[in-house]
Amino acid sequence: MAFPLTRLRRLRASPQLRALVRETELQAGDLIQPLFVRPGLRQRIAIGSMPGQSQLSIDEMLKEAEAVAKAGVPGVILFGIPEKKDAQATGAYAASGIVPRAVRALKKELPDLLVVCDVCLCEYMSHGHCGIVQAGKVQNDPSLKLLARAAVAYVDAGADIVAPSDMMDGRVAAIRAALDARGHTETPIMSYAAKFASAFYGPFREAAESAPQFGDRKTYQMDAANGDEALREVALDVEEGADIVMVKPALAYMDLIRRVKERFQMPVAAYNVSGEYSMVKAAAKNGWLDERATALEILTGLRRAGADVILTYWAKDAARWLRGG
Ligand code: PBG
Repeated sequence: MAFPLTRLRRLRASPQLRALVRETELQAGDLIQPLFVRPGLRQRIAIGSMPGQSQLSIDEMLKEAEAVAKAGVPGVILFGIPEKKDAQATGAYAASGIVPRAVRALKKELPDLLVVCDVCLCEYMSHGHCGIVQAGKVQNDPSLKLLARAAVAYVDAGADIVAPSDMMDGRVAAIRAALDARGHTETPIMSYAAKFASAFYGPFREAAESAPQFGDRKTYQMDAANGDEALREVALDVEEGADIVMVKPALAYMDLIRRVKERFQMPVAAYNVSGEYSMVKAAAKNGWLDERATALEILTGLRRAGADVILTYWAKDAARWLRGG
């Protein structure tokens, strides 16, 4: 039936009609807030490249996490900035490391807030790569042991979910085996399954002080041009035991969010990464974009594409905006 019988504008005539037929819902309950935790006390160091985000000492991080929870956001994902870095990423898996300490504090103060731990080595490596480097190359298999140790350390401390973001082959299986051997059979793995070597991580690398000191991440993170390969990455992680699979970044990869959702019918996460946040912040500061409307449109679009879970630096603000605050 074509015009004039069909007039799609009929159902757009009022806010009530639009709400009645709205297909996609964005809720605070879908969001996860990333937090950067660092050593010290009363430290709240603004991240220049990510307006509104800070590196937080544990005491300040607890205050921020409380505000996040109050806004209705169900979880946070932690990134650690260690006291010092070395070539074995010791700070990633030491029980006294920054992330295990932060997790214990969170679980004590806010037991109902989901604590997700990013599992990677780059923030803890002197060279800034996500795995062990030998002969100038990032070594896959020796890195798996360290990643598994880090995951176990975080779950021992009380983490609810571990999220490996390193892109080594076989890491989900290694982490699942290590967690199970330790009795952590009920802890889900949210894998950064299709993670691309992306220019959109630029602001994060300032935030987490994790830029590679030589070369780039293209031998382990994916080539932006490859969609079929992304599905193979996801299939392998699912086989290895991933419970939630992630596509990252989000905006330039929305086709993959949709393809992964349709192919695997599993919980799919999308990481609305630092560059996607910072470019809107920068435009809003110039008066070129309305931050709130733009952010909610982006997050709704990711849900429409098929994301069940969205990791976003806007989580706390978006939760408030959704409640009309
Ligand atoms: C660690 C990691 C990165 C991000 C999440 N985990 C950086 C990278 O891979 O270089 C990026 C997050 C963001 O840009 O918001 N490997």
